[in-house]
Amino acid sequence: MLKRVNHIAIAVPDLAAAASRYRDLGVATTEPQDLPEHGVRVVFVEFENTKIELLEPLGANSPIAAFLERQPAGGIHHVCFDVDDLSAAISTAAENGIRLLGGGVPKTGAHGNPVVFAHPKDFQGTLVEFEEN
Ligand code: CO
Repeated sequence: MLKRVNHIAIAVPDLAAAASRYRDLGVATTEPQDLPEHGVRVVFVEFENTKIELLEPLGANSPIAAFLERQPAGGIHHVCFDVDDLSAAISTAAENGIRLLGGGVPKTGAHGNPVVFAHPKDFQGTLVEFEEN
């Protein structure tokens, strides 16, 4: 069910500084985008073969704030894989004993596509996002 790596997400304490680091190295970045439903502000760094999603906390209950308390300098937060059909992927995940966060109810991701997250304990300690694409 997994097709491509859509993006690798990195939590950062300073989104503008992180984005300019990549631009200084010759990589295009998107404008910052607020995703209040996810408690994050994002910038995408656009490589030929994939993207890096830079995440900064947004709002009081941001999951990124807790992450940065543990890792103040930032760090890899999740990996996102494209799937053809998110409903089918949710079923396949359940059949394989993979727990989904939020009851497995899709939310709208940064690209306007439905996404769900799988529990890190079911992916070798890595938070995994599935995006219909
Ligand atoms: Co993501």
